[in-house]
Amino acid sequence: MSLITSPESILDITVAAMQSTEDQRLKSLIVSLTKHLHQFVLENQLTELEFERALQFIVGIGQATGANTNEVVLAADILGVSSLVSTINNLDLDGGSYAALLGPFWRKNAPLCAWGENISRTDLGGQAMEVRGRIMDEFKRPVAGAIVDVWHSSPVGFYENQDEHQEDMNLRGRFQTNADGEFFFTSIRPAGYPVPTNGPCGELLRAQKRHPNRPAHIHFMISKPGYKVLITQVFDSTDQNLESDPVFGVSKQLVGEYLTDAATGICKLNHSFLLQAGEMVFPAPPIP
Ligand SMILES: [Fe+2]
Repeated sequence: MSLITSPESILDITVAAMQSTEDQRLKSLIVSLTKHLHQFVLENQLTELEFERALQFIVGIGQATGANTNEVVLAADILGVSSLVSTINNLDLDGGSYAALLGPFWRKNAPLCAWGENISRTDLGGQAMEVRGRIMDEFKRPVAGAIVDVWHSSPVGFYENQDEHQEDMNLRGRFQTNADGEFFFTSIRPAGYPVPTNGPCGELLRAQKRHPNRPAHIHFMISKPGYKVLITQVFDSTDQNLESDPVFGVSKQLVGEYLTDAATGICKLNHSFLLQAGEMVFPAPPIP
């Protein structure tokens, strides 16, 4: 094996040591990552103190991750990486994306609900909301029997797992589309909320003078065997933080019209989604 002769030579030696990796995709990913990391260190002439600080940040995101919070996902989110991965893997026919990041709060096995059922099971006040939508395939044909898994925050911006006043699985539910690919549920209008700021990610946002407030949104995960699972969010068009989402989740296709009906005072949202043919693979839930 060769020995180090210069800062640049360390990369060649490191890459040479990885050549026996059997999994070719793993090999190319780790070699590429190593090249970028070395290039980053050289380009910025990283100091030992800065390196130590970077390692502390990574240790910190692990330590801040627990049963109800996933700081690792949040770190990927606030660096725009989650949104980038989601966007390159979910291009629609017009080159835009109908997908958005999963976020840290999806839970598996939300209650199966009937047509129109109210998922606001704890009385939290707030504005009543009716959500209707249509699931279509790439040829704009309705997809019947798809499962529409929804979850959202309360009128003051808390998911049930963050809020002792909400019962288990409040503001979460799974609905099935009818023969026309339509679904319908009722709930209360969600508010925007800050991403957790008590860990290393909050510290980074403060150092960058970035606010932590996500625009109000509803999360959707839409699935049916034979189609790629669509993970997305629909944002409130009236929210002032649409263009400064700390996790970069908003694309123009995902801004929904949350309209208040003048006669009833009910907030109504109507939004359609496209499913792409493919394998139905669910993500691992960030929290149990
Ligand atoms: Fe969310």
